[in-house]
Amino acid sequence: MKLNRDSFRLRNLFFVIVVFWSSSLCANESKLEYRRPANITVPSDNQLSQERIDLGKLLFFEPRLSGSNKISCASCHKPEKGWSDGLPTAVNESMTVLTRATPTLFNVAYQRHYMWDGQFRHLEQQALVPIASPLEMNQNLDKLVSELGEIPAYSRMFAIAYPNEGLTVATIAKALASFERTVVVTDAPFDRWVNGDEQAISESAKRGFALFVGKANCAACHHGFNFTDDGFHNIGLTGGDDLGRFMQVPISTLRGAFKTPTLRGITHTAPYMHNGIYNSLEAVIEHYDRGGDVKAWLDPSIRPLFLTAKEKQELLELLGTFTGETEVFVQPELP
Ligand code: HEC
Ligand code: HEC
Repeated sequence: MKLNRDSFRLRNLFFVIVVFWSSSLCANESKLEYRRPANITVPSDNQLSQERIDLGKLLFFEPRLSGSNKISCASCHKPEKGWSDGLPTAVNESMTVLTRATPTLFNVAYQRHYMWDGQFRHLEQQALVPIASPLEMNQNLDKLVSELGEIPAYSRMFAIAYPNEGLTVATIAKALASFERTVVVTDAPFDRWVNGDEQAISESAKRGFALFVGKANCAACHHGFNFTDDGFHNIGLTGGDDLGRFMQVPISTLRGAFKTPTLRGITHTAPYMHNGIYNSLEAVIEHYDRGGDVKAWLDPSIRPLFLTAKEKQELLELLGTFTGETEVFVQPELP
């Protein structure tokens, strides 16, 4: 009898050890998945160079890109607002309120789809859209080429950055894309932690990570260095009848599905969601905790989480570690 009980105890101890060992192994493995990839992918006809990045940076802040010469890309993607605008949804130059929120440009280089409904696959494709859109910058692209061509500094910079192409509609897009690829979150406390510095984040943020990949299930969609699965999901938001990804790919499960956004720089980019419905990260966590609001076409990974107040706080602390040191961005002097 005694022997049996002892062997039973031993077996329990063995189980505890195995479970503990494998869960710490799992945590380590999931940590590794969050390391920054060594490279970003760039199109073969637009390799990065300092000249291209510098030129794109000027163009990004250049109001001459708009029809009225009044707004630039940076009027909506403001560096000091986490490359977004602090508004629920974007507002254009004539104060028309657009239907979707301005996404951050942090880490756009790592994305596989652009826009909330993922309609573009390359930054080069995306860049001309806001310029030409009557709702955004309202500029005639051919007119833009001749306008910029009249400024000697630009002609010279295009000739150096794109020697075989010069100043064209296509090289305007390529230069903008080159600059955008350099907007990267580096050295966030979270990155230092996944690279082995145990002091880089608090104990409660570490418990937040265990929740993020476990009970809170965030990592089902927000995983990897850029915290996205590059997929589209309906997370049950109220406020609006935007069909999202369904407009591109008319499959019923994609009704109201939007791209999983990066969580990099998230503490700087309130309000949140494609329709800017939440003003704070606390409100976002409450949304997930109650399992979303609108249940039609809801993604199966969204369900009530039953998080305690302490757990919500731990998740919040974790989200805070995804933002890097915000260097003061010095706006370039335009020619
Ligand atoms: C009037 C405000 C406004 C201006 C000006 C503007 N954008 Fe945007 N930008 C937006 C909005 C809103 C979206 C999301 C639109 C959507 O998903 O339908 C967006 C989306 C993007 C995206 C996709 C990001 C992602 O995560 O999918 C990129 C890249 C981008 N803009 C770059 C630029 C560039 C480059 C310029 C200048 C040529 C520019 N934007 C000008 C508001 C603006
Ligand atoms: C089923 C996939 C899925 C799960 C699970 C999920 N998210 Fe999301 N998340 C998304 C999508 C998709 C959006 C954008 C939704 C929209 O705007 O319509 C989003 C948006 C967000 C935003 C706003 C980002 C921005 O730039 O506006 C935050 C913050 C966020 N999620 C955090 C979390 C946290 C924390 C968890 C876990 C509690 C979580 N998410 C679980 C898919 C998911």
